Amino acid sequence: MFKVTIDNITVEVEPGTTILQAARMIGGEVVPPAMCYYSKLKGSGGKCRTCIVKVAQGSAADPRPVPKLVASCSTPVQDGMVVQNITSPEVLEARKAVVEFLLINHPLDCPVCDQAGECDLQDLSFNNGLEATRYIEEKREFEVINIGEKIKLHMNRCILCYRCVYTVDQIAGKRNHGVMYRGDASEISTLINHAIDTDFSGNVIDVCPVGALTDRTFRFKSRVWFLNPMNAHRDCSKCGGKVIAWMFGKEIYRVTARKDKFGEVEEFICDECRFEKKNAADWVIEGPRHIERNSVISTNHYEKLTKPSIIKPLEDRTEKQD
Ligand code: SF4
Ligand code: FES
Repeated sequence: MFKVTIDNITVEVEPGTTILQAARMIGGEVVPPAMCYYSKLKGSGGKCRTCIVKVAQGSAADPRPVPKLVASCSTPVQDGMVVQNITSPEVLEARKAVVEFLLINHPLDCPVCDQAGECDLQDLSFNNGLEATRYIEEKREFEVINIGEKIKLHMNRCILCYRCVYTVDQIAGKRNHGVMYRGDASEISTLINHAIDTDFSGNVIDVCPVGALTDRTFRFKSRVWFLNPMNAHRDCSKCGGKVIAWMFGKEIYRVTARKDKFGEVEEFICDECRFEKKNAADWVIEGPRHIERNSVISTNHYEKLTKPSIIKPLEDRTEKQD
């Protein structure tokens, strides 16, 4: 096992673990934000640079620091490595620049974007960004591309993280969705405009960190924070059938996969569960879903209080007083 210290916390990890994975083992504030890395998608990471950290000591054998900040999602740890994330002013300053760069061409259309309230870029800019933009040039514009009747593509919101490309390739099993052109001309397309029509193509909506790929069956129906996320399941022949049903009263407004505390899908779901099962009778509703990440969705959603174990039930205390 390798010992690695991140922001003064030491953890033991297997060789081959990346700095980001080691930080996730520690958890909390130490974990760098990740806009392109996705643990369930092979080859993801290394595109957005939001996860940059400082390697203050390369390893126990060679304690020299790495001269430049590194992408933690694609840098494996060495034994005795010392890493700084939130303890490095240099990292925090550089991350601000990365956020500014990601926002250069991103429109400020959060008020009308379905992703608002659960958008990684919103969270990233709130936590790490500048208060105002310095960008006065015109933003990129695109011809509208129709990628099918279930999924809506807003190319001007895309940050080119490639997650959707890996998802279609690895989960949906049909490589008809990709990145065309290079540099600032790059854009996501279904290549010759074929609709993405496999049984698992809807997962691109869940992996997209911004509102570039959204669910047409939910478009403009409600802001996410007005809905109640409920764990639900059904017997499905194509996927595990474990989902979140986003409900308003007894109506299901949309269905998504369940996500963990790092915002990653726990189990990918099929398009039938996502797009076609919108009746409460289609599902066994298990109960309210705890939203793991700091999110506006959690606001006003009350959960049953779990009493701390040291507080005894009232009847016990009454007995003692007697
Ligand atoms: S559409 Fe979304 S998932 Fe695909 S590359 Fe753009 S930002 Fe990433
Ligand atoms: S998450 Fe590491 S470069 Fe994007």
